[in-house]
Amino acid sequence: MILHGIIPPHGGTLVNRVSGQPQPEPFAGSEASIVLTERQQCDLEMIAVGAMSPLTGFVGSKDYNSICENLTLSDGTVWPFPITCAVDKATADGLNTGDKIALLDDSKRLLGWLTLEEKYDHDKTKQAEHCFKTAETEHPGVKVLMEEGDVCLAGPIDVVCARYDVDFKEYRLTPEQTRKAFAEKGWKTVVAFQTRNPIHRAHEYLTKCALETCDGLLIHPLVGQTQPGDIPPDVRMNCYTTLMEKYYVADRTMLSVLPAAMRYGGPREAIMHAILRQNYGCSHFIVGRDHAGVGSYYGTYDAQEIFDTLPDNGLLIEPLKYEHSFWCLQTGAMATAKTSPAPAEKRVFLSGTKVREMLAAGERPPEEFTRPEVADILIASMKG
Ligand code: ADX
Repeated sequence: MILHGIIPPHGGTLVNRVSGQPQPEPFAGSEASIVLTERQQCDLEMIAVGAMSPLTGFVGSKDYNSICENLTLSDGTVWPFPITCAVDKATADGLNTGDKIALLDDSKRLLGWLTLEEKYDHDKTKQAEHCFKTAETEHPGVKVLMEEGDVCLAGPIDVVCARYDVDFKEYRLTPEQTRKAFAEKGWKTVVAFQTRNPIHRAHEYLTKCALETCDGLLIHPLVGQTQPGDIPPDVRMNCYTTLMEKYYVADRTMLSVLPAAMRYGGPREAIMHAILRQNYGCSHFIVGRDHAGVGSYYGTYDAQEIFDTLPDNGLLIEPLKYEHSFWCLQTGAMATAKTSPAPAEKRVFLSGTKVREMLAAGERPPEEFTRPEVADILIASMKG
């Protein structure tokens, strides 16, 4: 636990791989180049700004195998997913170790450079089974993985511009910037809230319970790659800012976006999410029910229990674990099974499908489930 000052980054040093000048014209250099996938572009930005400290580039085979098998980098640092730059075999055959490879976005603009240290086989099935506990392509994280190339390129990256078309610029703070903001606010303990959804009453409850024991709350929605069908980030951002105006204390709450890709990896992703937030300067991290889960691939509390399997000094950030929360009709308050004495029929649970159906029909879900202002934004977006 950190008692004084802001928490150190994971691995001890906050990485910064951004240098040089952005080049907004299509790349015309003579060096070898590859266009990064959406996933790789998200990862590149996370590495470049230090959110993935201590990584300085795409991982090599030693780390790859250690991450899959041991949940650590080869030096023993806790790390849940291999962060890879995979390409097809024909492309890889044309590249040699020592090459500086230009990394491009979809419009062929230069994002940065990879200094190639190693090429190795991408054992996607092994990775899927270890990291996602399934190799089924119905799992959205596995689907993206299986569509990746068969050869991983490894080495440090040097980024000139992580994104040319930037969404939510005023909210896109880097770890260095959030750390500075926390220091300016005098917050020593900060709890981070990860979400890929609008904030409903259950989310609001967790964030406020956590804020009761921390100096500040960072609402840190993930706005990078998600799966089709998830609520788009611009609609969610509208929900967050609207909610914060009326339902949160401005001095104690901060909103910033996390431009990471969602992997839907349940327990391992909870660890990834916690590491990212430690790097952003947060001391505590909310892990509720089925964190980063999808379908029925993970148990309700798997993402909480995995933290108990880490070595004592594995992570500095502290997970704050919350049970499934709901509105209790008997006590007239948000609660969990720990705090509500009411029988099941007095607990308001609504399934995601039911809520979507109500919103699509222009109906507000009950106020016990979601604030009316949030419901109205969601109804309007569905009509849009
Ligand atoms: S996630 O993929 O980002 O985890 P979501 O945005 O739904 O999905 O959840 C954000 C956080 O709130 C996660 O920690 C999740 O476990 C937690 N959470 C969501 N709904 C509930 C609930 N009803 N009770 C307890 N925790 C919840």
